[in-house]
Amino acid sequence: MLYPLRSHFPFGLAHFWSVLVGLGLALSISACGGGGSSRPLPPVSAPPTGRIEGSHFDDLNGDGLRDPGEPGLPGIATFLDLNGNGRLDPGEPSTVSDASGNFRFSNLPPGTYRVTALLPPGRVFTTPRSGLGLERIVGGRPAPEGAFPWMVALLRAAEPDPFQAQFCGGSLIAPEWVVTAAHCFFDEGRQVNPQDLDLLLGTNRLQIGAGQRIRAAQIVLNPGYNPQVGQLGGNDIALVRLSRPVALATLPLVQPNQTNLTAPGTAATILGWGATFPRALDQEPSGFPRDLQQATVPIVSNAVCNAPQSYNGTILDTMLCAGFPQGGVDTCQADSGGPLIVSSGTGFALAGITSFGRGCAQPNFYGVYTRVSSFAGFVQSVIGSAPSPTPAPSPPPPTGTTASFVVNLREGEVVSGLNFGSRAQ
Ligand code: ARG
Repeated sequence: MLYPLRSHFPFGLAHFWSVLVGLGLALSISACGGGGSSRPLPPVSAPPTGRIEGSHFDDLNGDGLRDPGEPGLPGIATFLDLNGNGRLDPGEPSTVSDASGNFRFSNLPPGTYRVTALLPPGRVFTTPRSGLGLERIVGGRPAPEGAFPWMVALLRAAEPDPFQAQFCGGSLIAPEWVVTAAHCFFDEGRQVNPQDLDLLLGTNRLQIGAGQRIRAAQIVLNPGYNPQVGQLGGNDIALVRLSRPVALATLPLVQPNQTNLTAPGTAATILGWGATFPRALDQEPSGFPRDLQQATVPIVSNAVCNAPQSYNGTILDTMLCAGFPQGGVDTCQADSGGPLIVSSGTGFALAGITSFGRGCAQPNFYGVYTRVSSFAGFVQSVIGSAPSPTPAPSPPPPTGTTASFVVNLREGEVVSGLNFGSRAQ
């Protein structure tokens, strides 16, 4: 029996306040030099330079803290991401942690530094602000504001607070069209009408006044979607027409001739405001965030997803699976309808629409998404011409697993204690 991962529209779960520990950057900043000394200061020649240091450690229990007995990790690449693109570019200072797991950047002029670490395959960060089960979506992190301008929240029109009103996600694919999941519009047999539906665009934050809140004009379900059967029957895709067009970047769809973009093993990004705490089959999901969450998951072949210990042959060709065999990172309740995106070379493209899963983030039970390339004809037939006249701007495509601390280094300061925890997957 599958956990009934219906969206909580319109009478489903209320959003619970997530008890999120605001994880401030735990930097210990100590001033170096100067400081009330009675000795005369040396003559000033060049402005004093600063230092940033920290360590990598094996967070064996995954709690994000360095506990006694957790060893340092040598050989982890760490760099100062001066242009903030998430990659190590020529000219950016870089180092590798030493035998004790420590790293250090010396002789730095004052400024803001994004100290970024790059993990080898097979490891995941547990700090800063990441880690299995500690975070949002399930196992994700807050998305940078503006990085996903075509991300849409589906809201119950009757509820003024978008945080309470949100029940599904969607993607803007044309100035007045949003693509989402068909199952978002059914709750215990009742169907949602356009006049009950608002769409929130242009913001990461579910907050009154943020972004543009626009009423739906039309909901077009895929004719193959059977509400009696639900997501398991496939064809879980729908289009929503906005009551007015918006001037926001749109997300291109993976086309039928681009299936190489969704090859098994490809890193995909999942996005949503859904439940952030992994839950077993018999528990309700919880921990709904106010800020959009993102996580990276590998695409899994339909063969693997259909294995006996997994979905045992029930996954259709028009579905796409993504996640880790051990679970831990996944979409969850209220992420439905939202995007699974891949890098297309020129930016992102929509490869999947969040549809269902057995529980959330459970081992072997990958997230299941509507395979967008299978529905190009449907989209075309509804919205007419090419779905995406304006390609989205190209934020950095997902690369290896990185995590960063941002440091404001003042003159002559030493910033220490940047401790990156990670663990084997
Ligand atoms: N059906 C759920 C919803 O309505 C989302 C399911 C995603 N589940 C998963 N384990 N990936 O929001």
